[in-house]
Amino acid sequence: MVVLLQSDAGSLERWRAALAAEDPALEIRAWPDYGDPSEIDIAVVWDLPPGAFRELPKLKAILCLGMGVDGLMARDDLPAGVPIARLHDPFMVSAMTEYVVLHCLRHHRGQDRYRQAQARAEWLVLPTPVTAGRRIGIMGLGQLGRAAAAALTGLGFPVAGWSRTAKQVAGIDCFAGAAALDGFLGRTDILVCLLPLTPATEGILNGRTFDLLPPGAALINAARGGLVDDDDLIAALDSGRLSGATLDTFHTEPLPADHPYWRHPQVTVTPHAAADTYPPTAAKELVANIRRTRAGAPLKDQVDPRHGY
Ligand code: NDP
Ligand code: OXD
Repeated sequence: MVVLLQSDAGSLERWRAALAAEDPALEIRAWPDYGDPSEIDIAVVWDLPPGAFRELPKLKAILCLGMGVDGLMARDDLPAGVPIARLHDPFMVSAMTEYVVLHCLRHHRGQDRYRQAQARAEWLVLPTPVTAGRRIGIMGLGQLGRAAAAALTGLGFPVAGWSRTAKQVAGIDCFAGAAALDGFLGRTDILVCLLPLTPATEGILNGRTFDLLPPGAALINAARGGLVDDDDLIAALDSGRLSGATLDTFHTEPLPADHPYWRHPQVTVTPHAAADTYPPTAAKELVANIRRTRAGAPLKDQVDPRHGY
């Protein structure tokens, strides 16, 4: 199997080393000087330049170097019938769980109010909130959503999850499908979004969604910026409908310096840093999918093009 490897320049060598450590026999050719295009069997890529897939006539599989495949699925040069897999990386799952727990606790404990009070040298004492009374709702019960839900349940929060297809997850109140969305939102004090960006989810964090949350609810979006209607979110924060938002991803990244999120007192911005890929753990999963392709077996974590994730 000949593998074409493409990632940002800063991480290319780490990917190459991690893949080679996992399978020393693998022939890895790095973009852009990858030799004869007709020899490439598998593309392990993040953001190959537009049109580049058309140059690869013998491609058998595309393995994304990210968990979100929205960038790949939006392309117009994907070869018909070639399966695509999203990344599975146990390190990223743990990292995202940390991020979600960190920011749920921040909102739950009113940490921003203490910071603001400290800036005024004010001895502000808030009542200690009751964990069992703070209902957390996670949009997306995939690899990230389920792990975050388990950690939050372990801390004693009542947790619900919302997914496209029906689920049964121990300890979590599961809601599924568009018809169940309103009920899920109505019982959610902290809304955590871990949905993929697809035609069905684009803009789902909008004014209607915010209005269905209990007054004073908080939002954590660690998925994609395209899920959020920015004007609606700022209006909901300004009106006090929402008490705060933690945002890791944005329509335009890096977030432009003049964007209102940077200076909004109720917004916490992190620079798409919730969970970075970690080649040593991710390479194991990638090489397992390379071996499946070699054996003619279906990919694990394969994208269903009908649903876009
Ligand atoms: P998965 O594909 O494992 O899970 C996606 C979940 O979303 C599933 O539960 C799925 O439902 C649900 N879902 C999809 N479409 C809909 C819909 N229309 N209505 C309701 N539920 C829906 O994804 P991951 O957990 O691996 O990742 C989620 C996203 O997190 C990624 O797509 C990526 O954008 C983002 N991400 C962000 C990172 C960061 O650093 N900020 C790092 C890594 C990922 P079902 O279970 O029924 O299929
Ligand atoms: C991803 C990401 O999707 O880093 O992997 O956002």
